[in-house]
Amino acid sequence: MNIRISRNVAAMQAYTPGEQPQDRDIIKLNTNENPYPPSPRVAEALAGFDASRLRLYPEPRNIVLRRRLAEIHGCTPEQVFVGNGSDEVLALATRAYVENDGSIGYFEPSYSLYPVLAEIRGVAPQPVELGPEFSWRMPVDVRASLFLLTCPNAPTGRQYDRATVADFCRGFDGVVLIDEAYADFAPDSFMDLSLAPGNANTLVSRTFSKSFSLAGLRLGYVIGPAPLIEAMQKIKDSYNLDMLTQTVALAALSDLDSMRANVRRIVASRRRLADALRTRGWSVLPSATNFLFAAPPDGNGQAVFDHLRAKKIYVRYFPGPRTGAYLRITIGTESQIDALLAAL
Ligand SMILES: Cc1ncc(COP(=O)(O)O)c(C=O)c1O
Repeated sequence: MNIRISRNVAAMQAYTPGEQPQDRDIIKLNTNENPYPPSPRVAEALAGFDASRLRLYPEPRNIVLRRRLAEIHGCTPEQVFVGNGSDEVLALATRAYVENDGSIGYFEPSYSLYPVLAEIRGVAPQPVELGPEFSWRMPVDVRASLFLLTCPNAPTGRQYDRATVADFCRGFDGVVLIDEAYADFAPDSFMDLSLAPGNANTLVSRTFSKSFSLAGLRLGYVIGPAPLIEAMQKIKDSYNLDMLTQTVALAALSDLDSMRANVRRIVASRRRLADALRTRGWSVLPSATNFLFAAPPDGNGQAVFDHLRAKKIYVRYFPGPRTGAYLRITIGTESQIDALLAAL
C-alpha cells in the first residue's frame, strides 16, 4: 500500500475557526456574526421555496446572482465571481494567481486564514508586520504573486487610508485582493479600485456573513478585472453555489434597506461599547467593523477572556506578543453589551 498524505498537508496546522457552542445561553461575541436577523424577505424566500426544484442541479455559472451584484456595483457580470463564502473566493485566488514557486503576502496580524491558505497551497507565506498600534506599514521588498489585504483590517478593526491603499495596489507587482468582509460597517469602501480601468491587478471581495446576517448561508463574492474573474470561474467547483443559497441571496439583495438598518444599529452600539470600555481604562482601537479590538487596563487579555468565558460570554482571543493584550469583541445586541459590561 502506498498511502500518503501530501507533505505540506501532513506538516500544516489546520485553521482554528471561532467556536460555535451549542449551548444557547452563551452570549456569542466571538465570530463577528450579526446579532440581528436578516431581511424578512429571506424568511419568505425560504418558506416559498419549492423543494421539488432540488431534484435539479443549480445553474452552474450563478448568472442571475452575478447580474444582480453587477447592477449594484455598477459593473458587468463578467467582473463578478460568487463563491461558497468569501473563504472559497480566497482559496481559489491562491490557486488562480500563484505559481507553485510563488508566495502569498499579507499583513500580520490580519485574517488568520491567510497563512493557512498558503500552507494548503504549498507556497511561502510572506507576512508583513503592521506598524505601531497596527497602523499601515508600506510593504517593501515583498515579492509575492498575491497580496491578501484586509480592509478594514481584522482582528484590529482599523481602516487604512484610501490614497495609501491605491498607491500600494498600483505599485504591487502581482494580484492584490482587498478583503472587504467588513466594508459595510466602514465609512468608505475601496471597491472602486477593482473597477478602475488602470487597475488590472486589483480585486475586492465581500461577504454576506456579516452585514447581511447570513453567515450560515455561505456566500461571498469578488469584483475585479474580467480576466482575473474568468480565471476563478474556470477552476471553481461546477456547482459551487447551491440553489437555496442563490435564491436566498437574491431575496437579501432585494432589500438592502434592512441590511443597512442593522448596520446603523451595530455602528451605534459599537460607539457605545467603545466609550464604556474607554471609561473603564481600556485601550480601544478605532473600529470600522462590527467588532472592537480592545485591551484591558492591565494588558492581560487572556485573564479577561477566561473570566468572561466562565460567565458564558465568548469573545475571541489571539495569543501572541502583539495581539495577546487584546480581545476581539463582536458587537452584539444592546442587551448583550449590557451583560458584557456587567460581567466586566
Ligand atoms: C477578513 C475576513 N475575510 C473573510 C472572512 C470569511 O467570510 P465568509 O464567511 O464569507 O467565508 C472573515 C470571517 O470572519 C473575515 O474576518
